[in-house]
Amino acid sequence: VTDAGRRPVREVRLCLLGFGQVARRWCEIVADREQQLAAQFGVRFLVTSVGTARHGSLHHWPGLTPVELLELAAGPARQLPATGRPGTELVAASGADVLVEATVAEPDGAPVATAHVREALARGLHVVTVNKGPIAWHYAELAELARHQGRQLRFEGVTMDGVPVFNLVEQCLPGVTVLAVGGVLNSTTNFVLDAMAQGEALDAALTRARLLGFVEADPEHDLAGLDAAAKLAVLANVLLDATITPADVPRVDVRTVTTDRAVAVRGAGRRLRIHSRARRAEGRVVTSCELVEVGPDDPSYGVDAMSSLVRLDTDLAGTIEVVERRGGVTQTAYAVLSDLLQIVGQER
Ligand SMILES: NC(=O)c1ccc[n+]([C@@H]2O[C@H](COP(=O)([O-])OP(=O)(O)OC[C@H]3O[C@@H](n4cnc5c(N)ncnc54)[C@H](OP(=O)(O)O)[C@@H]3O)[C@@H](O)[C@H]2O)c1
Repeated sequence: VTDAGRRPVREVRLCLLGFGQVARRWCEIVADREQQLAAQFGVRFLVTSVGTARHGSLHHWPGLTPVELLELAAGPARQLPATGRPGTELVAASGADVLVEATVAEPDGAPVATAHVREALARGLHVVTVNKGPIAWHYAELAELARHQGRQLRFEGVTMDGVPVFNLVEQCLPGVTVLAVGGVLNSTTNFVLDAMAQGEALDAALTRARLLGFVEADPEHDLAGLDAAAKLAVLANVLLDATITPADVPRVDVRTVTTDRAVAVRGAGRRLRIHSRARRAEGRVVTSCELVEVGPDDPSYGVDAMSSLVRLDTDLAGTIEVVERRGGVTQTAYAVLSDLLQIVGQER
């Protein structure tokens, strides 16, 4: 294939598991930039398989462009033509080069998404996941499988939507040892804590957060601290070589905070924030999670709703803090694109 007869353009075929907000937004972004991607990166993305839980599935060879896929899935029912098939079967039949894992967050071991990732790597596909479950629960095993298969496992979207954390360390901090990682990892809890500080009840704050679209499908993930625990497990497993799971990480349940306390803390000129941290200590990795009252001099004071902060303490590069302002679906969809472009770039 050539781009307007000028340069060769490589077709990269994808299997999309999960066709919700993130996967659809990725299709829109790529549809808008088809010519730029061909001209700048020499790549054209085609989708051969799509799987959902309740909205059907699709298998198409040699593959649909993102525009064609969006047209097919348009309409109020947003239904794909075939009946639902298990994701592992779709991966096996897809003939794709890359699996994009964008299914819902699961508790307790993330068995469904992990099976998707395992199947894809075993069949020689690269994997991009925005679903943190497989990395939080099974990183060591999956990274080893990827190495063994000579394939890439990329996941920039799992901690701070698209803001670079893993690429930052991989590409900008060669030779550096990360000693500790952590931060304010769940933006929904910031929103809820700040709303309660204004006197709002937790349920009302949660309803507003849901309307704004930044609560996980199951709000328990955010409120009970499961999301923050999964993110800390990802950071520790990837950057500190830990072999922990979210079950090993302490959690703060934001539902234990009363509106009275949040209002009183605000009255004292401070804010409630949840700080998560993992650090190397005498050959192992120790994790913590605390509800803290922070003043304006603390970097996390300004990390408000829809924002998050990751802090890296390193041996040679000092302390680095990365703040995401107003993260969301577009940034996460961009993380999928940036991971795909990394894969394409490294295959040349
Ligand atoms: N939204 C964000 O800003 C954001 C940010 C960072 C990370 N993430 C992560 O990205 C992932 C996707 O998020 P999203 O917002 O796109 O979620 P979403 O809108 O709820 O979409 C999830 C998709 O997964 C499908 N699904 C569920 N179980 C499945 C299964 N067993 N097999 C195949 N498909 C299945 C759902 O099918 P149905 O359509 O039939 O329900 C739906 O299409 C989640 O893991 C989330 O934690 C999201």
